[in-house]
Amino acid sequence: MWFSKVNIIYCLQEKIIMQPITSIENLIECFDDAEPSEQVSVLKRTNISVSDFEKYASWINGEYSRNCIARRDSFEMILICWDEDAKTPIHDHGGQHCWVLQVSGTITEKRFEQNDGSFTLEDEAVLNAGSLSYMNDKMGYHTLENNSKSRALTLHIYANPIDQCNVFNEEKSEFEIKEMVYDTMHKMELSTASKK
Ligand SMILES: [Fe+2]
Repeated sequence: MWFSKVNIIYCLQEKIIMQPITSIENLIECFDDAEPSEQVSVLKRTNISVSDFEKYASWINGEYSRNCIARRDSFEMILICWDEDAKTPIHDHGGQHCWVLQVSGTITEKRFEQNDGSFTLEDEAVLNAGSLSYMNDKMGYHTLENNSKSRALTLHIYANPIDQCNVFNEEKSEFEIKEMVYDTMHKMELSTASKK
């Protein structure tokens, strides 16, 4: 069989492109190199051990923590650690794309449409380890909840980064703007004053 130089280069590139991503450092490198349209294919190649993610984990009793792994102008990579019963309010995504890769445990996602001030449940899914879900503001609002009776880890990729979003206040029955904060950044615990 005869291969031209162009064919060989193409095959090598294809092999590199299809290789699984097995470390967080490699995942960050791939995102640094990826065009926006390539980000989802990068995530689909991710095959990183849970123990790698656990290096970035921090825990809050009964709640979830946001741990920044990497932040660029074009994306934000956050590990969320879900203690038992941790739950988000109904929220949007600040006009950005949001992918959720379930690292360990299970999370229940509920998606809602809002019409005339009331929410309609459009979809409910249990996210198991290895699953990849996607959300943006055109798809409505959602909540994420760990009702599994064990801890869970999820990797969230935002493109672009989200500094604030709209969160529904059940008591006031209205949306409020929430400034997003990190509990740790690059494994370093942040004081409340310096949280982002
Ligand atoms: Fe969300």
